[in-house]
Amino acid sequence: MERILVTGAYGQIGSELVPALRDRFGVDNVIAAGYKNTVPPQFFDGPNTDVDVADYSQLDSAIMDHQVDTVYHLGSVLSALAERDRKQAYAVNFSGVHNVLEAALANGVRQVIVPSSIAAFGPETPAHNTPNDTVQKPNTIYGISKVFTELMGNYYTTKLGLDVRGVRLPGIISWKVEPTAGTTDYAVAIFYGAIREGRYASFLGPDTCLPMMYMPDAVSSLIDVATADFDRLKHHVDYNVAAMSFTPAELATAIERRIPGFEMQYDVDPLRQSIADSWPDKLDDTVARQEWDWSPRYDLDAMVDDMLENLRRKLA
Ligand code: SER
Repeated sequence: MERILVTGAYGQIGSELVPALRDRFGVDNVIAAGYKNTVPPQFFDGPNTDVDVADYSQLDSAIMDHQVDTVYHLGSVLSALAERDRKQAYAVNFSGVHNVLEAALANGVRQVIVPSSIAAFGPETPAHNTPNDTVQKPNTIYGISKVFTELMGNYYTTKLGLDVRGVRLPGIISWKVEPTAGTTDYAVAIFYGAIREGRYASFLGPDTCLPMMYMPDAVSSLIDVATADFDRLKHHVDYNVAAMSFTPAELATAIERRIPGFEMQYDVDPLRQSIADSWPDKLDDTVARQEWDWSPRYDLDAMVDDMLENLRRKLA
């Protein structure tokens, strides 16, 4: 059976990807790797380890000790924090990716899955129905690190024979663990505000349209691209995936329909607004549909219904 290491395991995506991988590949075969975190209770049922991805030797030992075949590399500094702390962003997002790829090669790892992002696009990219293959030129540290990730992953695949794959994830909405210091975080925080106080102040302006996805689809996109038939793939680490796009005002309307009296205010943060303004508002994901049958399950209404139901239960 496949042995899988997940970095960034206790983050927003990792904390839902790890249980999904454990269901599929067996609890003992999925090693959750966090960085200086207390292990959340849901990870007590399987192997855990501490790994600083900026330190090659820690990755090398974790991969060797656990006889890892596949790495899901989720450890990353998100967009807003990366602008404020370039040094940390470089250590984690650039050196971390390089360390994972080199440690994978050195230890005979079969496959590395690493997410890219809508942030890999920039102000010169066509913003509406952004094609899979187009001008990128991001103007954020996080975005530049994702282009680096895509190009390095494609290089290691085509030149060095390591099977590296990834999708360009949009803003991910989920109720279990909140994201940290991203630009799309408002679309999660709004649900906490709506349930707890009946109101929310958005740090992005009302008409800022961004691509978004509900967590179950994000988890599927990573596992589906990982398990796709290699011979069908003409791309590797650079697949657009899309599920829904909306503005803060549209999300507020969808919530107000379910929580009458919900009040949306705007308190725009110039840093995150400028980052959001440099990103596309809707991606064309035809290539992923053609090459590995990508298809999302949740649209805006299905996501809002499920978020409210689960978050209400969690906060009760
Ligand atoms: N959700 C991420 C961020 O906001 C984008 O990949 O940084």
